[in-house]
Amino acid sequence: MPELRRIVVELLGQLGSSREARQYLKQFSRVEESRFAVVKIGGAVMRDDLDELAAALAFLHRLGLTPIVLHGAGPQLDEAMEAAGVPVEKCNGLRVTTEEVMAVARPVIYRANTRLVDALEERGVRARGVLHGVFNARLADPERLGLVGEIESVELEPVRSAISSGALPVVACLGESASGQVMNINADIAARELVWAVRPHKVIFLTGTGGLLDHRGRVISAISLVNDYDHLLAQEWVHSGMRLKLMQIRELLEGLPSDASVSITSAANLTRELFTHTGAGTLIRRGEVIEFHERVPAERLSEFEALLENSFDRHLQPDWVGGRSVRGFLCAESGRAAALLVDGVDGIPYLDKFVVTPEAQGEGLGAALWQAVRQHCPQLYWRARAANPIAGWYFQQSHTTHRKGQWIVYTIGVSDHEQLTRLAEDAAGRDSGWKI
Ligand code: ARG
Repeated sequence: MPELRRIVVELLGQLGSSREARQYLKQFSRVEESRFAVVKIGGAVMRDDLDELAAALAFLHRLGLTPIVLHGAGPQLDEAMEAAGVPVEKCNGLRVTTEEVMAVARPVIYRANTRLVDALEERGVRARGVLHGVFNARLADPERLGLVGEIESVELEPVRSAISSGALPVVACLGESASGQVMNINADIAARELVWAVRPHKVIFLTGTGGLLDHRGRVISAISLVNDYDHLLAQEWVHSGMRLKLMQIRELLEGLPSDASVSITSAANLTRELFTHTGAGTLIRRGEVIEFHERVPAERLSEFEALLENSFDRHLQPDWVGGRSVRGFLCAESGRAAALLVDGVDGIPYLDKFVVTPEAQGEGLGAALWQAVRQHCPQLYWRARAANPIAGWYFQQSHTTHRKGQWIVYTIGVSDHEQLTRLAEDAAGRDSGWKI
């Protein structure tokens, strides 16, 4: 590994573990250079966080990664229009672009583009503004929308040529017709079409809030569309803007390979989002179905044993899983998360193993697996050592906890006192199945 890259990886390690950082760097470097990521930058970030933004993008470039940058200039344009006394008019969310509006918009978009290119070059990163030649468009609805373009095709040549010359492409949301008429393209639509043409590994939206927010204004860490989408859309706090965003992202991901993901984050959090398992922002993936089986399927057995041994860094007793009286086995399609339910006291299932790789945890698979376990078991009990880092999370999920020596026993859906005592005793006395 070249010296600089080594130092950078070490630096990344300070965010999480350097192993983690190296793993993601490898993952991102594996895809073809131009397919690492499309980064869409909202106009507000261009206006308010330019320094932070240029620093984060320059850092990626130094790591040998070349994101394709696409930017809007909405807020800047609103300001310029106000200053010029031209009223802002929208129609179905699209900016009505009369000739007069275009006369104001073009220089504003050029300026935003140049500012970012300059900020990158000041940091020693070669960058190239791509203002033309990417979005071939025709007028969407000239009577009502004026010079708003509808994209007919995307030409990647200008982007690829920037990349192969060692420059970061910085693409603006402008299109043109075959005869050279310049048109205004809505930034979300431009992003979608560019993403579908590039088919990147990651799609990154840099926003001011740095993620999608829940009803308490906290960033939602991960969303798996197969497990969370319907549930989220049914929430009353998911207002129309977020609903639209979620629908757009789902549509976007449907057009990409299944390992592609969307990250919504801020300029300041971009590095942490990309190079740690936990991330900093909202990660959205198509996600994996959680399978339920009555027993551990033969073809899943050795994978499950390996997952347990690697995660806990211990060895299982021979044929330990095979010897269990299994009540249910739940696992993610990829096998990176699994839960084993066995027969317990009074017919209540005992959660014997719950295991998720750190990477899958960052994708929200732990939460999805837990939800599935809860759906299958109205009553449940399990144990964990008091010092286990997950103890706090278990505490939140459980209805009761009992301290039994080195163990904390958790229960859900049980209220009878005597039964609780029996469960606690049973749980604390169980063999964990590890070799001594
Ligand atoms: N670093 C990984 C990625 O960018 C995982 C990020 C997890 N992020 C999150 N907000 N949960 O693909």
